[in-house]
Formats: sequence, structure tokens, C-alpha cells
Amino acid sequence: MKVSFKDLGLVNTREMFAKAVKGGYAIPAFNFNNMEQLQAIIQASAETKSPVILQVSKGARNYANQTLLRYMAQGAVEYAKELGWKKPQIVLHLDHGDSYELCKSCVDFGFSSVMIDASSLPYEENVKLTRKVVNYAHKYDVTVEAELGVLAGVEDEVSSEVSHYTKPEEVIDFVKKTKCDSLAISIGTSHGAYKFTPEQCTRDPKTGRLVPPPLAFDVLKAIEKKLPGFPIVLHGSSSVPQEYVDIINANGGKLPDAVGIPEEQLRKAAKSAVCKINIDSDSRLAMTAAVRKHFNEYPAHFDPRQYLKPAREEMKKMYIHKIVNVLGSNGKAR
Ligand code: G3H
Ligand code: 13P
Ligand code: ZN
Repeated sequence: MKVSFKDLGLVNTREMFAKAVKGGYAIPAFNFNNMEQLQAIIQASAETKSPVILQVSKGARNYANQTLLRYMAQGAVEYAKELGWKKPQIVLHLDHGDSYELCKSCVDFGFSSVMIDASSLPYEENVKLTRKVVNYAHKYDVTVEAELGVLAGVEDEVSSEVSHYTKPEEVIDFVKKTKCDSLAISIGTSHGAYKFTPEQCTRDPKTGRLVPPPLAFDVLKAIEKKLPGFPIVLHGSSSVPQEYVDIINANGGKLPDAVGIPEEQLRKAAKSAVCKINIDSDSRLAMTAAVRKHFNEYPAHFDPRQYLKPAREEMKKMYIHKIVNVLGSNGKAR
């Protein structure tokens, strides 16, 4: 049986993105796989009155079960209202959909937005598959994110050692032919907690920390010029907070030289046509840091609530920080 996202109290990205591009801020797109992450995301969004995109990857669907995730998202809308958020603006989005069938199943299942990531295919095949997904999704008012260019690291279960920046000369043709609602681009971000090798970075002489190379803002500018006002998406935008990396490493973890995108660069991107910023790894790091610290401090604890509660609080703190201090989406969904 088909379910419309509208019946679940969810919204698509259309209006949200138009406002964000105009207003010079970005909407947070946070991945979730479990209840604690979802609680933290909703609490942070409700407290700051920020529109929010709940992202579900193919891996999350396999991990948590698609039916359960759908009802969790529906529950999230009700929970947000209970927290005093009168008009929650919550999107349920498929992250990195890799086939027409998967995207169709999400549309039928109550998602309000899907990503078809055909960026690893040759250009014409990317256009064809994206167009097919758009044709289906738009019948149900579900918005579609597409991707041009390849991010370094593991993407779509295909791994690429180097990134291939989006070619600005392709974007007009791509958007015209596919009719996608937003476009994920490659300008130097990548997935995971190791976004750059130490060789690609310099070292801060004072702290000894790795300093990553800047993002290709010239490519972003050229794309904005070709597609004025069109919603642009940045994947791989965790900043890999070094305080979490330090806590993890000090409590039995092993994350040597983990490095992310500096927040000042994300702040700059959020003010441009970039209106959706994807963050997953920072939530994983916040949770792991809190759990590892807790286990070290309380070796006798074995009730999951004892260690998941501080993990949830740490994630919430991190989400609020991103919303208020990096993306600027607070107060945009009153
Ligand atoms: O883009 C990747 C996201 O961080 C989702 O990761 O496929 O491990 O759930 P995942
Ligand atoms: P991070 O690994 O940088 O959090 O990126 C997440 C992402 O792009 C999800 O699609
Ligand atoms: Zn991604």
C-alpha cells in the first residue's frame, strides 16, 4: 500500500530550499540509524526551530528496517509537536539512492525526498536514470536530489581515491534534462572521518594539528553563476571535531590523523547557493566519544541507558552547534 509523506506530517524540500538560498543559510541533513540519534536531532531542531532533513542511507535501511524507520520519522513529527514546535518542518530523505527501484520504493513508502546518486555512471546514463526517478517522484510531489562529480572516498559503495570536481559546463544541461530539484556537487569534501591524507594537509606549528586544503570555492562560484538560485548540496561535510577524536583516542580508541572540513569553510558555503549540508560522521564521533568516556569512567555500568544518555546529550549539543553556529538555520521554521 502506498503512503503519502503528507499524511505523515512531513514536507518536501522545495519551499525549504528556496527560502534557504534566498536567506543565505543551509538546512542540516543529519543521518539517523537509531532512536537516540533521532531523539537528539528532533530535540535540537525543535529547540532551535530549525527545518531539518532526516536522512536514511541504504545501509541504515538494512540496519534498522525500513518500516521501523518510516514510523520513527512519523513519530518524530509528533514528538516535535510535543516538544512545543508548532509547525515542524521535517523532511524524510533517502541518502545515496543507487537505483530506480530503491527510490521508487521510498517514494511509495512515505519519503518526502530522495537522492538518486548516479554520479559514478557516464554522464548520459546519469541523466537518464535521474530523469526516470524525477518522473516518478514528481507525480507524488516528492523532491529529487541528483549528483554530478565524484567525491573522494567511499560513495555509493564505489570507492574513488581522488575526487573529480563537478564540471560547471555540464550543470545547465544536466538540470534542464533531468528536472532535478537540487544538485549535489563535488568541490573537495568527502565522506567519513578521514577526508584528507596527512600529505594533502599542512600542520599547524602551534598545535601540531593537520590543516586541510581549502574547498574549491571557485568551482562553486562558477556553478552558481550558471544556475542562479538553484539549490546546491554538499555531502561529506562533517568537520571531525578534534575534541571528539582526542576523547576517543584517550579512551581506548584509535583514530589517528582523522580530519574534516573546517567549520569556517562550511559557514562560507552555507551563505551561498549551498542549501543542504550533510553531516553523519560528526554524530558518530560524538556518540563514540561519549560512550568510550563513560565506559572508562564507569566500568561497572551495563544498562544501555546509562551510556546512551550521555551519548544522546553529546549529539544534541553537536547538532545545536551546527544549526546555530555553522548553518544558520535556527529560527527559520517557526
Ligand atoms: O554518505 C554516507 C553516509 O554517511 C551514510 O553512511 O552508508 O554507512 O549509512 P552509511
Ligand atoms: P560525512 O561523512 O562528512 O558526515 O558526510 C555525510 C554524508 O554526506 C551523507 O550523505
Ligand atoms: Zn553523502
